[in-house]
Amino acid sequence: MTTAIDLFAGLGGWSTGARNAGVDVLWAANHWPVAVEWHSANHPETQHVCQDLHQAQWEKVPPHDLLLASPCCQGHSKARGKKSGNPQHDSSRSTAWAVVSALEFHRPEAGLVENVEEFTDWALYPAWVAAVQALGYQVAPHVVDCADLGVPQHRVRLFLVLTRSKAPLMLELHRRQHVPAASFLNFDAGRWSPIEKPGRAQATLDRVRNGRQSFGERFIMPYYGKGSGLTGRDINRPIGTITTLDRWALVDGDRMRMLSAGEALAAQSFPADTLRPDNHRLTMHMAGNAVPPLAGQRIIEALKAAS
Ligand SMILES: C[S@@+](CC[C@H](N)C(=O)[O-])C[C@H]1O[C@@H](n2cnc3c(N)ncnc32)[C@H](O)[C@@H]1O
Repeated sequence: MTTAIDLFAGLGGWSTGARNAGVDVLWAANHWPVAVEWHSANHPETQHVCQDLHQAQWEKVPPHDLLLASPCCQGHSKARGKKSGNPQHDSSRSTAWAVVSALEFHRPEAGLVENVEEFTDWALYPAWVAAVQALGYQVAPHVVDCADLGVPQHRVRLFLVLTRSKAPLMLELHRRQHVPAASFLNFDAGRWSPIEKPGRAQATLDRVRNGRQSFGERFIMPYYGKGSGLTGRDINRPIGTITTLDRWALVDGDRMRMLSAGEALAAQSFPADTLRPDNHRLTMHMAGNAVPPLAGQRIIEALKAAS
């Protein structure tokens, strides 16, 4: 298994993972020009297409051994909160059918599809699985916390392993030691502000106080929402899930700041030399959407070992 394509490629979690697992990504696509621009910057050897994958011309895609895909997850994710029923998110679920079209045309040896766990709750999931099976593939769902693969972040995701085997192929994913958030946090950098400052929300002050009681002077806490309760998290554990919006704040004594984009990328196990936009929001968006490259690498390595 030496070649792959990457559908819905953004900052390139799957592609970087594949490269590190010794697999060449021949072709990658996204309909968003910014994603294509930055995927191209990090994977100049890959052929790129900026296209709605519902419209892909699969005959123009090079033959490959492995299909990698992260279809849109917003239509499935609990993270969309109260916005359920958003027609754009609902229609984004159909992006999963591009995987079926690509498999039908190219019949690669295997496919790996990443999504949120709720993907299997989709009303059309049984039909999607039946379509993949009709093409001769077995579907093996794996729910993985990427922290167990050595990523310094708890990120539970569904990985569907599609193979032409007699039975669904369950991968042997060796559990790695957890890597703490402290491994990538830099308390000597970034723009800090005093915790006690006019206008600071009482909820934030309460969260800081609770965090201090549990973890001392230095800890991470969710800045918005109710994630991780009110107490924050120990920096000696992996950080919580990196999302597409700023979520995590660092507290250091009497000062605090938001997680930097560089730290978010490190939490996602992107290599330090990953090229990315200067724009913080764009980088956070792409970082939060990505497959952690290290998780991708470990899963591809396990698939290669089993094939
Ligand atoms: C979950 S992200 C995938 C991120 C990627 N796996 C990575 O590691 O960088 C889904 C991507 O699908 C893209 N997308 C959504 N609908 C699409 C469509 N119809 N055609 C092509 N790309 C689409 C979005 O722009 C988004 O970047």
